[in-house]
Amino acid sequence: MIKVITYGTYDLLHQGHINLLRRAKELGDYLIVGVTSDTFDQGRGKLNTRNNVLERVEAVKATGYADEVIIEDYVGQKIDDIQKYDVDIFAIGSDWVGKFDYLNEYCKVVYLPRTEGISSTQLREQTQDTYRIGIIGSGRIARRFVPESKIVSGAEVVSVLNPDAAGAEAFAREFGLQAHTAFDPFIEGVDAVYIASPHPTHYEYAKRALEAGKHVLCEIPLVLSGTEARELYDLAERNKLVLLEASKTAFCPAFNHLVTLVKSGVIGDVVDVKASLSKMVAPPTRELDPAQAGGAMNEHAPLTLLAIIKLLGRDYTWQSPTRMARICA
Ligand code: CTP
Repeated sequence: MIKVITYGTYDLLHQGHINLLRRAKELGDYLIVGVTSDTFDQGRGKLNTRNNVLERVEAVKATGYADEVIIEDYVGQKIDDIQKYDVDIFAIGSDWVGKFDYLNEYCKVVYLPRTEGISSTQLREQTQDTYRIGIIGSGRIARRFVPESKIVSGAEVVSVLNPDAAGAEAFAREFGLQAHTAFDPFIEGVDAVYIASPHPTHYEYAKRALEAGKHVLCEIPLVLSGTEARELYDLAERNKLVLLEASKTAFCPAFNHLVTLVKSGVIGDVVDVKASLSKMVAPPTRELDPAQAGGAMNEHAPLTLLAIIKLLGRDYTWQSPTRMARICA
């Protein structure tokens, strides 16, 4: 008996999926379909699937081509599955050509023709409004945002704002965006902003964007005082807008798994959290310049505090490192 295995998300199951499953089934006698778990997809940037894993499994079963459906939940699982199920052929669409050649060591790898003109991404885009995002600031961090935004359905970066015209134009040219040097025309053309400008400007930009009725994602540190933070969160709530500090660690699956493991009591009661963050940087850079809103202190403290507050809650007491060393001794 020839066993074939294939994998996919199968969100909003469409004709391309059905063709692929039929072709995969025709390669052998028994077809195993690996459907990605929701967390696995989130971890690889597929954030906007419409169907949850149970619905996607049901949709694959309903095609009638799968003899067995399994869940794909971790990187490297394909090798484990091929060995566990004694698979002869690994099949996948031609959009992946070359990517799975490493599996040839374990079974035959076949790239099947992809159906042109249809994809889950396309279906999601047709049935939802796309949020137009404008970036404020065109420095180091903003550069990473544009390529990463491309793998998120329902969001499109459309413009950049920088009072320095040369900076705005160079960035806009590189990423195919509209360049702005003035706030008002910039904010009119977007639904949400991502603030990646120098720290002391965050408060003012966030406030103006919220007042204009736009959602705000703002780089760490959101603002430089509790009063400013409270004011902005009140404003966002009043205007029914999202205001979020761009702390990717807070959404990182591994970090959240750590928090849930600790909360489950697996290591007992947590009485102390030591969190530190190190970064090797060469001067001149803002992290090493206390004159730039505290330098590394304000830039990195939100991340270490995140670990402490998530694990201990807000009702914690602070011990100096010397006192802690004495307690531990
Ligand atoms: N597939 C295909 N033809 C299409 C779309 C997908 O043959 N038009 C194949 C893929 O190559 C893969 C399987 O179907 O082998 C499952 O792919 P999946 O990623 O779930 O489908 P997409 O529609 O490509 O999803 P997305 O747009 O979210 O990437």
